Amino acid sequence: MSMDDLKRQAAARAVEQVQDGMKLGLGTGSTAKHFVELLGERVKAGLKVVGVPTSEATRADAERCGVPLTTLEEVDHLDLTVDGADEVDPNLDLIKGGGGALLREKIVAAASDRMIVIADETKWVDTLGRFPLPIEVIPFGLGATRRAIEAAFAGNGVSGPMDIRKTRDGHVFVTDGGHWIVDARLGRIPDSPRLAASLNSIPGVVEHGLFIGLARTAVLAGPQGIRIVERH
Ligand code: A5P
Repeated sequence: MSMDDLKRQAAARAVEQVQDGMKLGLGTGSTAKHFVELLGERVKAGLKVVGVPTSEATRADAERCGVPLTTLEEVDHLDLTVDGADEVDPNLDLIKGGGGALLREKIVAAASDRMIVIADETKWVDTLGRFPLPIEVIPFGLGATRRAIEAAFAGNGVSGPMDIRKTRDGHVFVTDGGHWIVDARLGRIPDSPRLAASLNSIPGVVEHGLFIGLARTAVLAGPQGIRIVERH
Protein backbone atom coordinates (compact mmCIF):
# COMPACT_ATOMS: atom_id res chain seq x y z
CA MET A 1 0.00 0.00 0.00
CA SER A 2 1.41 3.41 -0.94
CA MET A 3 1.81 6.34 1.44
CA ASP A 4 -0.91 8.12 -0.48
CA ASP A 5 -3.28 5.17 0.08
CA LEU A 6 -2.61 5.43 3.83
CA LYS A 7 -3.32 9.16 3.82
CA ARG A 8 -6.59 8.56 2.00
CA GLN A 9 -7.57 5.87 4.54
CA ALA A 10 -7.00 8.30 7.42
CA ALA A 11 -9.03 10.94 5.58
CA ALA A 12 -11.84 8.46 4.95
CA ARG A 13 -12.07 7.65 8.66
CA ALA A 14 -12.34 11.37 9.49
CA VAL A 15 -15.05 11.93 6.88
CA GLU A 16 -17.17 9.43 8.82
CA GLN A 17 -17.23 11.94 11.70
CA VAL A 18 -18.89 14.63 9.58
CA GLN A 19 -22.60 15.08 10.16
CA ASP A 20 -25.28 16.99 8.31
CA GLY A 21 -25.29 20.71 9.10
CA MET A 22 -21.70 20.87 10.35
CA LYS A 23 -19.48 23.90 9.88
CA LEU A 24 -16.02 22.57 9.05
CA GLY A 25 -12.43 23.74 8.99
CA LEU A 26 -10.69 22.36 5.92
CA GLY A 27 -6.97 21.70 6.40
CA THR A 28 -4.08 21.99 3.98
CA GLY A 29 -1.61 19.45 2.58
CA SER A 30 -1.68 16.16 0.75
CA THR A 31 -3.65 14.32 3.48
CA ALA A 32 -6.21 17.09 3.99
CA LYS A 33 -6.66 17.19 0.21
CA HIS A 34 -7.97 13.60 0.36
CA PHE A 35 -10.42 14.70 3.08
CA VAL A 36 -11.74 17.53 0.88
CA GLU A 37 -12.15 15.16 -2.07
CA LEU A 38 -14.00 12.53 -0.01
CA LEU A 39 -16.12 15.24 1.60
CA GLY A 40 -17.01 16.47 -1.88
CA GLU A 41 -18.31 13.00 -2.74
CA ARG A 42 -20.59 13.08 0.30
CA VAL A 43 -21.77 16.59 -0.59
CA LYS A 44 -22.66 15.38 -4.07
CA ALA A 45 -24.67 12.61 -2.39
CA GLY A 46 -26.67 15.21 -0.43
CA LEU A 47 -24.67 16.06 2.73
CA LYS A 48 -25.19 19.68 3.82
CA VAL A 49 -22.03 21.29 5.22
CA VAL A 50 -20.03 24.48 4.85
CA GLY A 51 -16.26 24.77 5.13
CA VAL A 52 -13.61 27.37 5.88
CA PRO A 53 -10.44 26.63 3.86
CA THR A 54 -7.06 27.10 5.53
CA SER A 55 -5.25 28.10 2.34
CA GLU A 56 -5.85 29.31 -1.18
CA ALA A 57 -4.83 25.81 -2.38
CA THR A 58 -7.55 24.22 -0.23
CA ARG A 59 -10.05 26.84 -1.37
CA ALA A 60 -9.37 25.78 -4.98
CA ASP A 61 -9.68 22.08 -4.08
CA ALA A 62 -12.96 22.66 -2.22
CA GLU A 63 -14.41 24.63 -5.13
CA ARG A 64 -13.34 21.90 -7.56
CA CYS A 65 -14.97 19.24 -5.35
CA GLY A 66 -18.20 21.20 -4.83
CA VAL A 67 -17.79 21.82 -1.09
CA PRO A 68 -19.66 25.05 -0.15
CA LEU A 69 -17.42 27.61 1.53
CA THR A 70 -17.91 30.23 4.20
CA THR A 71 -15.74 32.52 6.32
CA LEU A 72 -15.14 33.14 10.00
CA GLU A 73 -16.98 36.43 9.54
CA GLU A 74 -20.14 34.62 8.42
CA VAL A 75 -20.06 31.86 11.08
CA ASP A 76 -19.28 32.33 14.76
CA HIS A 77 -17.56 28.98 15.30
CA LEU A 78 -16.74 25.71 13.56
CA ASP A 79 -17.89 22.29 14.72
CA LEU A 80 -14.92 20.34 13.43
CA THR A 81 -11.58 20.94 11.74
CA VAL A 82 -9.80 18.12 9.95
CA ASP A 83 -6.17 18.75 9.05
CA GLY A 84 -2.87 16.98 8.50
CA ALA A 85 0.34 17.42 10.48
CA ASP A 86 4.07 17.16 10.04
CA GLU A 87 4.55 15.60 13.50
CA VAL A 88 2.19 14.31 16.19
CA ASP A 89 3.37 13.50 19.73
CA PRO A 90 1.64 11.41 22.43
CA ASN A 91 -0.06 14.53 23.92
CA LEU A 92 -1.43 15.22 20.41
CA ASP A 93 0.68 18.35 20.23
CA LEU A 94 1.77 18.96 16.67
CA ILE A 95 4.27 20.53 14.34
CA LYS A 96 2.47 21.96 11.34
CA GLY A 97 3.35 24.35 8.56
CA GLY A 98 5.40 22.19 6.22
CA GLY A 99 3.00 23.37 3.54
CA GLY A 100 3.25 26.97 4.69
CA ALA A 101 -0.38 27.37 5.81
CA LEU A 102 0.20 27.34 9.57
CA LEU A 103 -1.29 30.78 10.31
CA ARG A 104 -4.70 30.15 8.76
CA GLU A 105 -4.58 26.56 10.02
CA LYS A 106 -4.12 27.73 13.60
CA ILE A 107 -6.81 30.42 13.36
CA VAL A 108 -9.26 27.85 12.00
CA ALA A 109 -8.31 25.13 14.51
CA ALA A 110 -8.66 27.58 17.41
CA ALA A 111 -12.14 28.56 16.19
CA SER A 112 -13.26 24.91 16.16
CA ASP A 113 -14.98 22.87 18.84
CA ARG A 114 -12.90 19.87 17.83
CA MET A 115 -9.83 19.16 15.70
CA ILE A 116 -9.06 15.79 14.17
CA VAL A 117 -5.55 15.26 12.82
CA ILE A 118 -5.19 12.83 9.96
CA ALA A 119 -1.79 11.41 9.06
CA ASP A 120 0.16 8.36 8.13
CA GLU A 121 2.01 6.65 11.01
CA THR A 122 5.39 8.11 9.99
CA LYS A 123 4.23 11.44 11.49
CA TRP A 124 4.04 9.94 15.00
CA VAL A 125 7.03 10.89 17.21
CA ASP A 126 7.89 10.54 20.90
CA THR A 127 9.13 14.15 21.06
CA LEU A 128 8.49 16.97 18.59
CA GLY A 129 11.37 18.57 16.73
CA ARG A 130 12.77 16.19 14.14
CA PHE A 131 10.74 18.07 11.52
CA PRO A 132 12.08 21.63 11.10
CA LEU A 133 9.84 24.02 13.06
CA PRO A 134 8.19 26.57 10.73
CA ILE A 135 8.00 30.09 12.15
CA GLU A 136 6.03 32.67 10.15
CA VAL A 137 7.72 36.07 10.36
CA ILE A 138 7.30 39.63 9.15
CA PRO A 139 10.08 40.53 6.67
CA PHE A 140 10.59 43.95 8.32
CA GLY A 141 13.28 43.80 10.98
CA LEU A 142 14.00 40.15 10.35
CA GLY A 143 17.50 40.39 11.86
CA ALA A 144 16.04 41.49 15.19
CA THR A 145 13.34 38.84 15.01
CA ARG A 146 15.92 36.11 14.30
CA ARG A 147 17.99 37.20 17.30
CA ALA A 148 14.88 37.15 19.50
CA ILE A 149 14.01 33.67 18.22
CA GLU A 150 17.57 32.48 18.97
CA ALA A 151 17.26 33.89 22.50
CA ALA A 152 13.93 32.08 22.92
CA PHE A 153 15.57 28.86 21.74
CA ALA A 154 18.46 29.31 24.19
CA GLY A 155 16.01 29.95 27.04
CA ASN A 156 14.31 26.67 26.19
CA GLY A 157 17.47 24.60 25.85
CA VAL A 158 17.25 24.13 22.09
CA SER A 159 19.34 25.35 19.17
CA GLY A 160 19.84 24.71 15.48
CA PRO A 161 20.21 26.34 12.10
CA MET A 162 17.41 28.56 10.80
CA ASP A 163 16.72 28.91 7.09
CA ILE A 164 14.41 31.30 5.30
CA ARG A 165 12.11 29.06 3.26
CA LYS A 166 12.59 29.25 -0.48
CA THR A 167 10.54 27.96 -3.37
CA ARG A 168 12.00 25.37 -5.77
CA ASP A 169 13.09 28.15 -8.15
CA GLY A 170 15.03 29.89 -5.37
CA HIS A 171 12.66 32.75 -4.53
CA VAL A 172 11.63 33.48 -0.95
CA PHE A 173 8.45 31.56 -0.15
CA VAL A 174 5.63 34.01 0.63
CA THR A 175 2.66 32.77 2.68
CA ASP A 176 -1.00 33.40 1.85
CA GLY A 177 -0.79 36.22 4.41
CA GLY A 178 2.21 37.85 2.67
CA HIS A 179 4.77 36.81 5.31
CA TRP A 180 7.95 34.72 5.21
CA ILE A 181 8.76 31.44 6.95
CA VAL A 182 11.90 30.56 8.89
CA ASP A 183 12.45 26.81 9.32
CA ALA A 184 14.38 25.93 12.49
CA ARG A 185 16.14 22.56 12.60
CA LEU A 186 16.05 21.88 16.32
CA GLY A 187 16.17 18.07 16.36
CA ARG A 188 14.32 17.70 19.66
CA ILE A 189 12.05 20.08 21.60
CA PRO A 190 11.91 18.83 25.19
CA ASP A 191 9.17 21.26 26.34
CA SER A 192 7.13 22.32 23.31
CA PRO A 193 4.37 24.20 25.26
CA ARG A 194 7.03 26.36 26.90
CA LEU A 195 8.82 27.06 23.61
CA ALA A 196 5.46 27.89 21.99
CA ALA A 197 4.75 30.48 24.70
CA SER A 198 8.21 32.03 24.28
CA LEU A 199 7.81 32.35 20.51
CA ASN A 200 4.32 33.86 20.96
CA SER A 201 5.85 36.82 22.79
CA ILE A 202 8.21 37.89 19.95
CA PRO A 203 6.78 40.89 18.02
CA GLY A 204 8.07 39.91 14.54
CA VAL A 205 6.75 36.35 14.85
CA VAL A 206 3.28 36.13 13.32
CA GLU A 207 2.76 32.47 14.27
CA HIS A 208 4.69 29.25 14.64
CA GLY A 209 4.03 25.64 13.81
CA LEU A 210 3.67 24.32 17.36
CA PHE A 211 -0.02 23.44 17.79
CA ILE A 212 -0.38 22.90 21.52
CA GLY A 213 -3.60 21.51 23.00
CA LEU A 214 -5.60 22.00 19.80
CA ALA A 215 -5.98 18.47 18.43
CA ARG A 216 -8.37 16.19 20.27
CA THR A 217 -8.14 13.11 18.06
CA ALA A 218 -5.46 11.68 15.79
CA VAL A 219 -6.29 9.21 13.04
CA LEU A 220 -3.05 7.48 12.07
CA ALA A 221 -2.92 5.12 9.12
CA GLY A 222 -0.18 2.49 8.90
CA PRO A 223 0.40 -0.79 7.09
CA GLN A 224 -1.25 -2.63 10.02
CA GLY A 225 -4.40 -0.49 9.83
CA ILE A 226 -5.86 2.62 11.42
CA ARG A 227 -4.96 3.71 14.96
CA ILE A 228 -7.11 6.31 16.75
CA VAL A 229 -5.51 8.29 19.58
CA GLU A 230 -7.61 10.57 21.81
CA ARG A 231 -6.19 13.38 23.94
CA HIS A 232 -6.87 12.90 27.63
C1 A5P B 1 0.37 22.76 5.89
O1 A5P B 1 0.83 24.00 6.23
C2 A5P B 1 0.81 21.77 6.91
O2 A5P B 1 0.53 22.12 8.22
C3 A5P B 1 0.24 20.41 6.60
O3 A5P B 1 -0.91 20.14 7.33
C4 A5P B 1 1.28 19.43 6.93
O4 A5P B 1 2.44 19.87 6.27
C5 A5P B 1 0.91 18.02 6.51
O5 A5P B 1 0.93 17.89 5.13
P1 A5P B 1 0.85 16.47 4.44
O6 A5P B 1 -0.50 15.92 4.73
O7 A5P B 1 1.04 16.79 2.98
O8 A5P B 1 1.97 15.64 4.98
